[in-house]
Amino acid sequence: MYYPEEIVEEVRARNNIVDVISEHVRLQKKGSTYFGLCPFHNEKTPSFSVSPSKQMFYCFGCGAGGNVYSFLMQYENATFAEAIKMLADRAGIKLPEVELTPEMKKAAGEKATLLEINKEAAKYFYYALRNPAGKIGYEYFKGRELSDETMKAWGLGYSNMYADDLVKFLRTKGYSDEMIVKSGLASHDEKRGTHDKFWNRVMFPIQDVGHRVIGFGGRVMGEGEPKYLNSPETPIFDKSRNLYGLNYARSSKKNHMILCEGYMDVIAMHQAGFNEAVASLGTAFTSGQASILKRFTDNVILSYDSDGAGTKAALRAIGILRENGMSGKVLDLKPYKDPDEFIKNMGAEAFNERIGNARNSFYFEVDVASREFDLSDPDSKTKFHREIATKLCQFADDVERNNYLEGICREYSINPESMRKLVGTVVNQTGLATPIRPKPKSGEAKLIKPEEGIIRAQRLLITWLSEEPGIYDRIKEYISEADFTEELMNKVASRVIAGIKEGNLTPASIVSDFMDDEDQKQVAAMFNAKITGLDGIPLEAGSKMDREHALKEIVLKVKENSYNYYSKNLSNDVAALDEVIKGKKQLEKLRNTTFTVD
Ligand code: UTP
Ligand code: MN
Repeated sequence: MYYPEEIVEEVRARNNIVDVISEHVRLQKKGSTYFGLCPFHNEKTPSFSVSPSKQMFYCFGCGAGGNVYSFLMQYENATFAEAIKMLADRAGIKLPEVELTPEMKKAAGEKATLLEINKEAAKYFYYALRNPAGKIGYEYFKGRELSDETMKAWGLGYSNMYADDLVKFLRTKGYSDEMIVKSGLASHDEKRGTHDKFWNRVMFPIQDVGHRVIGFGGRVMGEGEPKYLNSPETPIFDKSRNLYGLNYARSSKKNHMILCEGYMDVIAMHQAGFNEAVASLGTAFTSGQASILKRFTDNVILSYDSDGAGTKAALRAIGILRENGMSGKVLDLKPYKDPDEFIKNMGAEAFNERIGNARNSFYFEVDVASREFDLSDPDSKTKFHREIATKLCQFADDVERNNYLEGICREYSINPESMRKLVGTVVNQTGLATPIRPKPKSGEAKLIKPEEGIIRAQRLLITWLSEEPGIYDRIKEYISEADFTEELMNKVASRVIAGIKEGNLTPASIVSDFMDDEDQKQVAAMFNAKITGLDGIPLEAGSKMDREHALKEIVLKVKENSYNYYSKNLSNDVAALDEVIKGKKQLEKLRNTTFTVD
């Protein structure tokens, strides 16, 4: 952080979050909270909330959240330094002039610095593409039928022929060689010193959902190996938790997402109006990416290359989607290899038609399997039918399985009755138990894992304390920050309790303690738990007994957990032992206590 904490806090306090967000999102007041359509994901009913009392925003749909700084950083694709500048200007506050020395930059936190380096590099490549010397890159993109507007929207750039000019440029901006290497934009060796990783390539900046540049892909212009060179994983670039294009696709109005393999595919689809396209980042699709997609949609249309490798990758992706409770469909783009080529040759309308005809992933799997059998040979055909039967066993739900069974039998002219028998046989022989993986029905409470239960209890308590600081007096005999055993939760709880004691609890200022996006989100979640009992059932409005009971359950859960935690991690320290004994006594007392709440 470049500015003193007091300034950061003053600028924050002088910009009411409701006013700032209202400049970008239409908000409506409901009770003490404002609601609107989330700008960070596509939705039809508002789940984006802004709390005037907490000065925080939180989306119950996609989990975006934070204070007024986080909002601007995500919404405007701004760094912290830019966000504070905007807000200071808005409130008429003059920020102190700070000349950034390399030491200060280092202190600013590694991740923030890496983000800045990536942003500087993105600008550097961007201008290079638009310079006479970058004409070759610009012509390359033109040759691939990208418009100027598209190149601008995706921040496309060019890394020139020199192997060290980006490093030199970044040094003039005050970054150390160590950080430049850490950003993945340069390497270091004895012979060449610190030198650029990317040269003579067209550049694709990779942005996170908040539009911040976290890495690059660089393509050779023409033939050459490797075709694409990508930034390595860095503290800000986790390939398994980001998707190329999601920063735009998240606000697409479609009710599905298209998952494809390449940067060019994503860009070509968006240019043709399919702004629901995303790609994994030169690596296989991961479960982490699936759960990110799930925040936005349950329907994913796969558009992988139609070659063998693409098919194999698609089959893997289908499995991952299924494990995450999502259904997949598969696009058939034959005779073309990928969406980019298809659109170039056939146009957007034809592509849209293919989307409409996307094949259910189960049929796709069976199709692929069928290629391995010779259906004119009775033996082979039997094996194929057996294969289908085995695949059908994955459907836990009878109705669902039967629908698939009938569909697939129609498709391959198989007698459904014999297939039903075959499924029965397979189940008996292999013990392939259906249900394999019962899907939680929407609306039905999901099974809560023990750890999740504990986190949930701690979250509920933090939210409750922040909304009704008065309850602290009732529970303080039992609860201290030490009872919040998870690191992030513990930091937040300490600030909350200190704030209550000093009578100046401001949740939004607590968010400023955390630089990391994910951390800010999680902190926002801690202050925005829906107050319920531990069972997740909302409290009857105004029922004092319900509330008293719920509070006791929550406090008890938090205390039990911390007691177990400290007993397990007991050191030889006498004081610690004392604490554990004290905790045990408190637990006993707590079990026989009723809290009064108003
Ligand atoms: P493709 O080879 O299918 O590339 O790789 P593409 O997107 O069709 O590329 P164009 O159209 O020839 O420009 C798909 C994705 O796999 C990763 C990249 O993310 C690419 O977009 N990849 C591919 C690499 O990371 N390195 C490579 O050498 C090749
Ligand atoms: Mn391609």
